[in-house]
Amino acid sequence: MKLIVALLLIMPAGLALAAEPSEARQKEISHLVRQDCGSCHGMSLAGGLGLPLRPEALHDKPKESLVATILYGRPGTAMPPWNPFLTESEAEWIVEMLLKGQF
Ligand code: HEC
Repeated sequence: MKLIVALLLIMPAGLALAAEPSEARQKEISHLVRQDCGSCHGMSLAGGLGLPLRPEALHDKPKESLVATILYGRPGTAMPPWNPFLTESEAEWIVEMLLKGQF
């Protein structure tokens, strides 16, 4: 019984953590965003072949659609799908960081 209560108490914290990539994975993803995404979106993500990914360019766009664009790409444009390399929660984390201007 005590164990179950303890598990219930730590679960919400566990779930919140599960949504965010581990520190090591965050480093890998940051590298990917700067190198791979930067090759089209510009080294400072201010735009190039791809649209700018700076907070001011993204803040009024729905998060789900930005996450979907990262995971599935935009057919008919140069934006490729990243779902072979990124999970949905990783794509959500990228969008959060882009909106904060943290890459
Ligand atoms: C081969 C070039 C290329 C690469 C690499 C690329 N993108 Fe894109 N991306 C594009 C293009 C082109 C568009 C604009 C598509 C359109 O016209 O709607 C786009 C659009 C987007 C959008 C939607 C922006 C908006 O304002 O709606 C997001 C978000 C995005 N890319 C994120 C990423 C991320 C994150 C990565 C790296 C994981 C990445 N892109 C890598 C070419 C690229």
